[in-house]
Amino acid sequence: MTGRKAAGIIASLALLLMAGASLSAMTNPAHPKRAEWRKTYERPQAIPFPDDNPYSEAKAALGKKLFFDPLLSGAKNQSCASCHNPSLSWTDNLPRGMGVKEMATRTPTLLNIAWVPKPGWQGQFKDLENVAFRPITAGGIMNMPEKALIARLAAIPAYVDAFDAVFGEGDITRRKIEVALATYQRTIVSGEAPFDRWIKGDEKAIGDAAKRGFDIFNGKANCAECHSGWAFTDASFHDIGVGKGQDIGRGKLFPKSVKLQYAFKTPTLRDVVRRAPYMHDGSIATLKEVVDLYDRGGIDRPSRSDEIKPLHLTESEKADLIAFLQTLNGEPKKIILPALPR
Ligand code: HEC
Ligand code: HEC
Repeated sequence: MTGRKAAGIIASLALLLMAGASLSAMTNPAHPKRAEWRKTYERPQAIPFPDDNPYSEAKAALGKKLFFDPLLSGAKNQSCASCHNPSLSWTDNLPRGMGVKEMATRTPTLLNIAWVPKPGWQGQFKDLENVAFRPITAGGIMNMPEKALIARLAAIPAYVDAFDAVFGEGDITRRKIEVALATYQRTIVSGEAPFDRWIKGDEKAIGDAAKRGFDIFNGKANCAECHSGWAFTDASFHDIGVGKGQDIGRGKLFPKSVKLQYAFKTPTLRDVVRRAPYMHDGSIATLKEVVDLYDRGGIDRPSRSDEIKPLHLTESEKADLIAFLQTLNGEPKKIILPALPR
């Protein structure tokens, strides 16, 4: 091939590439509101700790020991981390939590739990401090009575020292266990995802399909109405047309509210690709099926959210939506397992 011919081919290739690029910009223009939407996804600068349980390094370290310690279960065979497993985005990939018995609901991730005002699928817990003794003492979960747990920990000098180092000398109490566990859990924050780099301005961090998916998520499909902000949740409760029968969610706490029947907490979508199966009852196996459910609009009934209705998405719009959800996988964080006091 002569040099001139090669240069000609390269020039026409470049022209073709340019035409391709502008063609894709023409057929896939950014939604006019994309820039405005992007601003609502900036990550917060700091973790919020409540005034009555401020952060300290020693308290978080003690909470971490307790979180990973199977001594918190009656049979010494299960820790919080058995179900909220850091290697599995702080859940277990099971349809229902598996304690002494199978639980009624799926194990939620603990990612970004510091920003969840009312923990539990039904928002049944007053705050994070109040959660721990529910799984610990429930006969069907960890099956460890409060007094027996305190006695067990108090018999281990290294635990007594660790509590004393945080709270000053004194007895181990339920409250001390609760605040330490909550402090550790508040440090569980999702790692930076390709999506976050895009929000910060790196245009190459996510692909075109994901960008189109972002527009659908915020626009046509209106997912962001509930999965809003950087943690992808409004921290509220809705019936999206999933629960059935006696499984009425927040309706148990508010029997008179029509809209809270079958309402469950909007889960975060951080790491969502890694956290199948989905929903409070683990009833949906894949993200494709989740998107199909929203496209159909779930079970039509008086409690169903007004935001849920048939979406009439095309197959390529559904694929774009999933491409977008895939950009929410955070950089895995190294978790160094604590040496347990014995
Ligand atoms: C046998 C599995 C299992 C064990 C062990 C377990 N959990 Fe859970 N956890 C669950 C399930 C299932 C739920 C959902 C309960 C519900 O709301 O219906 C849950 C909910 C939670 C929530 C609320 C999360 C949210 O997004 O609302 C927190 C916080 C939590 N657990 C912390 C803990 C701590 C701390 C421990 C250890 C003391 C623990 N869990 C032990 C399965 C487990
Ligand atoms: C009306 C509020 C609302 C809207 C709109 C909404 N969601 Fe949800 N989403 C929820 C609630 C509530 C749940 C939990 C339902 C349950 O567990 O039964 C949920 C669950 C999910 C889950 C499962 C997450 C998990 O951890 O189990 C995914 C994925 C999801 N939504 C994606 C979407 C997408 C994509 C859209 C748009 C097509 C969307 N959502 C629109 C409220 C909403």
